[in-house]
Amino acid sequence: MIKILPTIGMLFIASLSLWGNSSKECAQCHSAIVKEWETSAHAMAHSSKNELYAKMVAGAAKTNGVDPSKIMENCNICHAPAEDIKVKEEGVTCVACHRIDAIEHQNKSKPPIGINTIRWMKENVMAGPSGNGNSPYHGIVKRPFMEANSDTLCLACHNVMKNKQDITVCNTGDEHRRGTTQKTCIECHMGEAKMGLVSSLSTSKKMMRSHGFHGARNSDILTKAVDLELAKKNGDLTLTLTNLSSHNFPTGTGVRIATVVSEFYKGNTKISTQTEKLEVIFAAADGNITLPPMASKELSDTRLKPNDVRILGIVIPKGSTHAVVTINYRLAKESIVEKFQLSDERFKKEYRVVSKKIKL
Ligand code: HEC
Ligand code: HEC
Ligand code: HEC
Ligand code: HEC
Ligand code: HEC
Repeated sequence: MIKILPTIGMLFIASLSLWGNSSKECAQCHSAIVKEWETSAHAMAHSSKNELYAKMVAGAAKTNGVDPSKIMENCNICHAPAEDIKVKEEGVTCVACHRIDAIEHQNKSKPPIGINTIRWMKENVMAGPSGNGNSPYHGIVKRPFMEANSDTLCLACHNVMKNKQDITVCNTGDEHRRGTTQKTCIECHMGEAKMGLVSSLSTSKKMMRSHGFHGARNSDILTKAVDLELAKKNGDLTLTLTNLSSHNFPTGTGVRIATVVSEFYKGNTKISTQTEKLEVIFAAADGNITLPPMASKELSDTRLKPNDVRILGIVIPKGSTHAVVTINYRLAKESIVEKFQLSDERFKKEYRVVSKKIKL
């Protein structure tokens, strides 16, 4: 069944008997893809690679008086989804997507999310977008969720997620379905398809996309998130914000935040600053603001919705000569950075979305 190319046959007989699910095995022949994936959040989805996630689990364990491993069981169905226990620490690793045979609700006693919706393929067969090509290491089969229905693959984990109190804390899936953009997740997050070599053994090129799963931390995707227009109308500065993504801005987990900062200047002196926050805020049963896993209700949601065109009017302070409006994005709100004493720069950093200046 597995054809061995005559020239390299001897070299790979050893690998055939030593099947491994680790991305390190894949790197023998798909090193460019592995390098791209390593920059993605998928490669830091396991608690051992992610300070915020690890500390959030520890916090939830303390609040509920249980062992962190007990909490993690519920998170791992998406954050460490590989069937092979040995590669769990690799997070959303290669075989977590490429060894999927079908996406359908398996164990009906469990919610239809993450691994509960996945039927695994036998070990050495890879599901791919083309279904052709000869690999001495693995079989290849075509699966529609790798190309035509690729949203189905992403939404196995990026869909509605409820916490223990039945509060929806993450819902990129429904947001995306409500939007009217015709684009799929992979068209924006795996970039444009380009001709390239799929493996070091390939002799001809195929259409491929990037495995960077582009997000704030490893790409310029934020610069394509929002269109900002500034205008002066009857003594007001008008900001028109258009959401260019197919889902909320910001989307995903409720720890994200974007700020719209309008700074007014008189010459070189800043005379006033106004800040609008785009975020979802959760509260615990006692009404105090809390983190998504502990939430009992949603207090407010000011994020841009799909297709949103939001107009903000700000009274121009007297004497202003010009204004600078900047939209910034944070993976973790400052209150969360403080609460967990986060040291990872990716969570402490402010990412630039757009900045514009207007004469007044
Ligand atoms: C989150 C799911 C996911 C993960 C994780 C993932 N892939 Fe993919 N992979 C895809 C999708 C979707 C495609 C089809 C993209 C396209 O249209 O080209 C694909 C395509 C491929 C292809 C075919 C060439 C191409 O780009 O079309 C190879 C080879 C591949 N992946 C290898 C890997 C390796 C090696 C890893 C681990 C470093 C990995 N993948 C991790 C989803 C994933
Ligand atoms: C010994 C080399 C080798 C190793 C190791 C290897 N592959 Fe491949 N893989 C290939 C070759 C060769 C192809 C076919 C390339 C082509 O069509 O140009 C391929 C194709 C693929 C495809 C594309 C399928 C399609 O439908 O287009 C995927 C997905 C894939 N490999 C995933 C993986 C993953 C995941 C691993 C690690 C678990 C891995 N491969 C390890 C050589 C290898
Ligand atoms: C098996 C579950 C799973 C699947 C399938 C999956 N993801 Fe993810 N994805 C995650 C998890 C978990 C994270 C968060 C990782 C972290 O930062 O801890 C994530 C993070 C991301 C991020 C980065 C978010 C950020 O904040 O930087 C993007 C973009 C993304 N995924 C896109 C996709 C796309 C596109 C697909 C479909 C091809 C997909 N994902 C399929 C589980 C999954
Ligand atoms: C039209 C392009 C587009 C489409 C389609 C799209 N996204 Fe996005 N996505 C973006 C942009 C731009 C951002 C950055 C701003 C934001 O958070 O909304 C983003 C952000 C994200 C993030 C957070 C990344 C981070 O670094 O925090 C995740 C997760 C994500 N998208 C997942 C998905 C999934 C899953 C789908 C399909 C259901 C999808 N996206 C469809 C453009 C798109
Ligand atoms: C249904 C699948 C799913 C489950 C279950 C899940 N998550 Fe996630 N998680 C995701 C996805 C998808 C993302 C990426 C979304 C985004 O970028 O905002 C994510 C992102 C995160 C992040 C942000 C990580 C980063 O690097 O920015 C944290 C923290 C997190 N999850 C904590 C948890 C905890 C704690 C649990 C268990 C109590 C959990 N998650 C359970 C899918 C899941």
